[in-house]
Amino acid sequence: MQLTVNGQLRELPDAEAPRRLLDVLRETLDLTGAKDGCGIGVCGACTVLLDGAPVKACRLSLGDVAGRALLTIEGLEGPDGTLHPLQQAFLDAGAIQCGFCTPAMVLTAHAFLRGHPRPSRPEIRRALAPVLCRCTGYQQIVDAVERAAPFYA
Ligand code: FES
Ligand code: FES
Repeated sequence: MQLTVNGQLRELPDAEAPRRLLDVLRETLDLTGAKDGCGIGVCGACTVLLDGAPVKACRLSLGDVAGRALLTIEGLEGPDGTLHPLQQAFLDAGAIQCGFCTPAMVLTAHAFLRGHPRPSRPEIRRALAPVLCRCTGYQQIVDAVERAAPFYA
């Protein structure tokens, strides 16, 4: 079966189709940005973008995403390794502590900002609600998303 991951067509054995997408990403494709937090669809740490929309990779099988396009945090930076402006904004705003939620936060914010380039702070908070952060208190994360919004306008 085929799928596109971070702009590259990947071919995987049909026998892998029943595996959790999160395990395929982390163990087979070595894309470890998506984290295994709760494993039951609650914490959001495993979030990746499927055809541009956030999904929880712990709740999908590889077969569920056959033929579709995935973006993981590893695909957001430029080809030369330059951080995406949203990633840079997270650094500049001090929005990262342990970093466990950060890939999911960044991807969720990325999907949101593409459709809402001039968001209010309450709108940002609502958009990020599916991802839990145990460390930051969210203030700096909202600051980072607000700071990056002009790049999407
Ligand atoms: Fe998927 Fe928590 S690990 S939602
Ligand atoms: Fe630690 Fe969010 S920075 S969980």
